[in-house]
Amino acid sequence: MKKQSERKPSRHPANPAESDDQNKKRLDLLRNNESGLGEGLTTNQGTAITDNQNTLKAGPRGPSLLEDFIFREKITHFDHERIPERVVHARGAAAHGYFRVYEPMASLTRASFLQDPTKETPVFVRFSTVAGSRGSSDLARDVRGFAVKFYTDEGVFDLVGNNIPVFFIQDAIKFPDLIHAVKPEPHNEIPQAASAHDTFWDFISLMPESAHMVLWAMSDRALPRSLRMMEGFGIHTFRFINADGISRFVKFHWKPLLGMHSVLWDEAQIISGKDPDFHRRDLYESIEGGDFPEWELGVQIVEEADEDSFPFDLLDPTKIIPENVVPVRRIGRLVLNRNPDNFFAETEQVAFHPGHIVPGIDFTADPLLQGRLFSYTDTQLIRLGGPNFHEIPINRSVAEVHNNQRDGHMRQTINKSRAAYDPNSLGGGCPFQVGANQGGFASFAEKVSGAKVRARGEKFFDHFSQATLFYNSQTETEKDHIVSAFRFELGKVEVVDIRKRMLGILGQVDKSLAERVAAGLGLSLPTGSQGPLNKSVPADGNPEDFQPRAIGTALKPSPELSIIRSTTSESIQTRRVAILVADGCDDADLNIVLDALTSNKAQGKIVGPRLGYVRTRENNELKVHFSLLTASSVLFDALYIPGGASSIASLRQEPAAIEFVRETYKHCKAIAVSREASELLALAGIADGGRRGEDEGILTSTNAADQKLVSNFVAAIARHRIWKREKLLRPDLR
Ligand code: HEM
Repeated sequence: MKKQSERKPSRHPANPAESDDQNKKRLDLLRNNESGLGEGLTTNQGTAITDNQNTLKAGPRGPSLLEDFIFREKITHFDHERIPERVVHARGAAAHGYFRVYEPMASLTRASFLQDPTKETPVFVRFSTVAGSRGSSDLARDVRGFAVKFYTDEGVFDLVGNNIPVFFIQDAIKFPDLIHAVKPEPHNEIPQAASAHDTFWDFISLMPESAHMVLWAMSDRALPRSLRMMEGFGIHTFRFINADGISRFVKFHWKPLLGMHSVLWDEAQIISGKDPDFHRRDLYESIEGGDFPEWELGVQIVEEADEDSFPFDLLDPTKIIPENVVPVRRIGRLVLNRNPDNFFAETEQVAFHPGHIVPGIDFTADPLLQGRLFSYTDTQLIRLGGPNFHEIPINRSVAEVHNNQRDGHMRQTINKSRAAYDPNSLGGGCPFQVGANQGGFASFAEKVSGAKVRARGEKFFDHFSQATLFYNSQTETEKDHIVSAFRFELGKVEVVDIRKRMLGILGQVDKSLAERVAAGLGLSLPTGSQGPLNKSVPADGNPEDFQPRAIGTALKPSPELSIIRSTTSESIQTRRVAILVADGCDDADLNIVLDALTSNKAQGKIVGPRLGYVRTRENNELKVHFSLLTASSVLFDALYIPGGASSIASLRQEPAAIEFVRETYKHCKAIAVSREASELLALAGIADGGRRGEDEGILTSTNAADQKLVSNFVAAIARHRIWKREKLLRPDLR
């Protein structure tokens, strides 16, 4: 029996580097090594199997026998292989990695994983879409989940966020309604993974608090080019608590080091058919290829005393703190460097929960967060089958777990102690409670008082100011995309009254936005009184008290809200460039671009009329990565066509090659061609090879192996898209 004085004094190890190593080893141990390599086949009871091809029968042509325990065990296991998919965020992809803080954050938080710049905290990150089923397309217009599990030496910390910093609703009690509205409609299960239908917009048009979020969801943020190229946000205001017990408010941000990039909606729809696994594949292949995705963790800090100094409520999850009001401080780096070994065991069985926190971090009374604190454990009880989901390897804490919880479905741990209660003397009083100064979690002693009411703070009712701020912070191109997205989504709505109600909401955000959307829908803006905008009023409430109202002065546009304004990187790292060739392509033309792409850490992929090899003009063999049948322009960021008369002559006979060029142009991507290949531009309907140099994304060489062409091409790819071209191609946006 240990005396109190003999017990471990603190959960913090004396030597952090040692603990770092131990953490990694513990995770390694949890990985299943039973690959079966070199081993014989057995049943789950370990009995060796001689015949895995034939069931046991009464004679070679006779009926199968019930006693065939090998068959029954195998089929029974198979019959039970599926578990319920997540009720939301069902479709996801994940990766392992680590997080390292830049400098000790002790003045702000006592969280141990935020103290030591030499310490790597293991992480598992799952990205997801929200509305679609597990088998739906990656390219749905949707919010992306961005959930990070930190395996810290003080326990698991989950930062369960999204790629959009606000949410649709202010209170968790509305979450089932929101999700029922956005999921496929209940009578016919249509549409899959899409918000473009009546029930979603019916709900939104009656819920003005969602205005800010729908502006984000209709922006390019909902169509990321890659999971590696999007931001992440903790959304709610949390607390940082330092060792002196001082609390400050904190908002968490993830900033992608590759910058932010998106695809066009037309492209997204084509990708959904050509490669519905586009994002999942991109994440997997990047990590396999050693291009490890990276983000910086940013924090916005607000002193307790400043809580009420903003025209918005810090507890309101439909509001941001603009970065030009409180700057984001980048405090550490997340690197994803290992793919899961088994999708089901890791990506599917991982269980995130905003309530998994560690000392030094605490909650606020954000009513959406408070509801989430209940929901996640509850849902995992059904999805993962019982209270022991924390014992599934991917969910296990690397900090040792000791408590008196016992039994339950699928219990893995064989607890040896006789005393499974507290207080006890038979077990020496163990496991004992841990004081706050020894690493125990103590909730921040926030002062709380008030009448029991179902109500919201006054500032929560400013539903439009930040939606307007978001819209005003966008470039013209991004505004065009928002207009177009609303026209598409509301165009799919069948009930005209719902469209009209939405125009009423958009009119409150920005009149020109509403007018443009209305024009696309063949409607005019509603005039006169439409009745109260917010119709979701409690039975005994006075509707007037629940109407949206502006509070404070308008916030200045914030460039960080625009993808185009805030992504200034000139890097083309990891970008995929299609190189269209056929037999006889020019070696010098080809190599100069391939070399430039490689030295810029981009990828040149050879696309040819068929798989196998093409022969270059100098009779070299060139491996073809994709045939025109298996490739599609939407799977690439840019296009290059080297010269070589016979290569060009073959390509001009291929309708798929011409379509490839046409589509690359349509999606505003950079195209570089040798002089000989210019005729393919003409065949693809690209007038005057990009209007005689007016289009900075159409580059033609004047001589062989043109170095200037190559550097201009790299610069054009770095711009991601040539947006000026879009206005030319889409009269509807003018
Ligand atoms: C700021 C608002 C919210 C954010 C950022 C958010 C984010 C997420 C993310 C990223 C996941 C997927 C986790 C994973 O990859 O496994 C998730 C799942 C889920 N969320 Fe939320 N969510 C929000 C609001 C809510 C609310 C208000 C509720 C309910 C009251 C809720 C209930 C759920 C449930 C039940 C799951 C499925 C969990 C599972 O089966 O493992 N969420 N959420």
